[in-house]
Amino acid sequence: MKVFVTGGAGYIGTHTCVELLNEGYEVVVYDNLCNSSVEAIKQVETITSKKITFIEGDIRDTQAINKALEGCEAVIHFAGLKAVGESVERPLDYYDNNVQGSLSLFAAMKIQDIKKIVFSSSATVYGDPKFLPLTEDHPLKATNPYGETKLVIEMILRDLYNADKTYSISILRYFNPVGAHDSGLIGENPQGTPNNLMPYISQVAVGQREHLNVFGNDYDTPDGTGVRDYIHVVDLAKGHIKALKSLEKAQCEAINLGTGNGYSVLEMTKAFSVASGKEVSYKISPRRNGDIASCYADTTKAKELLNWRSEKTIKEMCEDSWNWQMKNSKSLS
Ligand code: NAD
Ligand code: UFG
Repeated sequence: MKVFVTGGAGYIGTHTCVELLNEGYEVVVYDNLCNSSVEAIKQVETITSKKITFIEGDIRDTQAINKALEGCEAVIHFAGLKAVGESVERPLDYYDNNVQGSLSLFAAMKIQDIKKIVFSSSATVYGDPKFLPLTEDHPLKATNPYGETKLVIEMILRDLYNADKTYSISILRYFNPVGAHDSGLIGENPQGTPNNLMPYISQVAVGQREHLNVFGNDYDTPDGTGVRDYIHVVDLAKGHIKALKSLEKAQCEAINLGTGNGYSVLEMTKAFSVASGKEVSYKISPRRNGDIASCYADTTKAKELLNWRSEKTIKEMCEDSWNWQMKNSKSLS
């Protein structure tokens, strides 16, 4: 089966391409490289000893996607902008890229009569949790423009399915993806100062940054710092293969992809120090605007519908992040 992967040159996309190729799928990556490089595609080919068809293009270009989609049977849709803070400053860019881009992709899929899609959503659609662990029927509420774009795209997909029950749609709500492929050839490569915890910790450990700012230690959590459900990106990638396989049957399902376990900022910092053998200095700073105390998944639905569960431990997440950081710190600095 030939699978069309938008945003396939990015962090989660490249790891998913590895798993797709290992499972024998043909892969077409469509990416405008606004947050990635073609080098990452070459690394995926090195890891798997298989070829990817790469097309540089924008998802807002319906004509170009229409042509690129020819012969594909399913789509995995990663392409999008993802920085929460930037989305607050540049909301129009986020609605244009993420929402308009998705509409354009869905229009091209319609022309090509492709009705199978896996979509990258996010746990951010749950807003400030009213209960934990988060089940898929928890009320939905975005707290920033990035989150709004995910909610709107989810809604469009549900409406598509309601209008035509032959669609097969898997909406995957990721918790906090971290780690890297154990080859150290692909991983997360944030531009500038990292917003997310794990890349920041790695850069402190490798000596690129002086210390981690821990955003608040007065939350209602066991040690006062924020608690999240960190999931290894390779586990996440494998979840996409299971989701793709589940699309044999028409459906529209939103499914959490997390481990079900919450770890605090201080626990992550300690685990990273042990994995890397480096001290990770930190200072307690004020809370970051818009942050919540705790967020972790109920993973029952993923187990039941996809027969998927995460396998990798926090130790492996930290070791693989560190391995990637060590192998790439020169090119990242
Ligand atoms: P990423 O930035 O590494 O990858 C996204 C890819 O999409 C990049 O290669 C970028 O060049 C491409 N892209 C962006 N806009 C495009 C456009 N208009 N046309 C074509 N290509 C375009 O991000 P990622 O971490 O791999 O995230 C993938 C998806 O998962 C995104 O939709 C993101 O919102 C979602 N997600 C990510 C996280 C996370 O923490 N990484 C959490 C929840 C959800
Ligand atoms: N944190 C720090 N210092 C830092 C960075 C983060 O203390 O320098 C803390 C945060 O306050 C939070 C935890 O580490 O308690 C995790 O923060 P991240 O920025 O790594 O992740 P978030 O949970 O805030 O957000 C991430 C993605 C969002 C996505 C969400 C849910 O960035 O896009 O997970 O999937 F919506």
